[in-house]
Amino acid sequence: LGKKVEVHQSIDSTNNHLKRNARDYPDEMIVLSEEQKKGRGRLGRSWDSPKGAGLFFSMLLRPRITMEESFKITGIAAAAVAEAIEEVTGLPARIKWPNDILVQGKKVSGILTEVSGEPDGINYIIVGIGINVNTPNFTGELKDRATSLYLEKGEKVSRKELFVRAANKFFRFYHGFTREKTLGEVHGILENRSAVLGKEVIILRGEEKKQGKAVEITKEGFLKVRYESGEEEVLSSGEVSVRGL
Ligand code: BTN
Repeated sequence: LGKKVEVHQSIDSTNNHLKRNARDYPDEMIVLSEEQKKGRGRLGRSWDSPKGAGLFFSMLLRPRITMEESFKITGIAAAAVAEAIEEVTGLPARIKWPNDILVQGKKVSGILTEVSGEPDGINYIIVGIGINVNTPNFTGELKDRATSLYLEKGEKVSRKELFVRAANKFFRFYHGFTREKTLGEVHGILENRSAVLGKEVIILRGEEKKQGKAVEITKEGFLKVRYESGEEEVLSSGEVSVRGL
């Protein structure tokens, strides 16, 4: 892989760990843990991180980009993870904009991107990736919404192979982006693998709930939705729920 990887047996959260050590750690450092005691998801949710079953890792990045440009990093990570999953397992991986990877309509992976800095220049970005690799089962409300690569494929999947491939791809796409300042081939991957394009979606933003049709993934990796009124909006973040999946 050619990157510095720090491996922990147990940690609260790999994102938290990088945040605490951001000052002392080098650019592009990766922290991976076999389990997380306080794995975090988006919007204050938790991320189940039991020992041995999943892949939990975070990357520290210090690109010279603006806050606005940093929104593209989640798309870059989603494209890398989806491609890596499909290459390693043969399972079709779709991207539910902006940060979920689905297999057969259920979530196998999530990405938590955290940015520190000012609008015109960021300090650092932490990209955290969680993948349900060999999770044997899901209970409660997760049962209908989450799955693992093991459950879909019917056999164990190499976590190491998946990690190396996902990280390699991520850095290839990411370096292309920091060089060219465009998404490049990532844009096509986000479009082709989109689980929401052409579908009716519900956009949840805080208390606000709107329904529209996902009509485009823009060159910036944002989601364009068209409402019944004909009005269009480009979303750069916020929670999007997909109907009828
Ligand atoms: C989500 O789907 O809401 C995002 C989930 C992100 C989980 C990963 S696991 C590694 C890293 N450390 C964390 O605490 N969260 C991310």
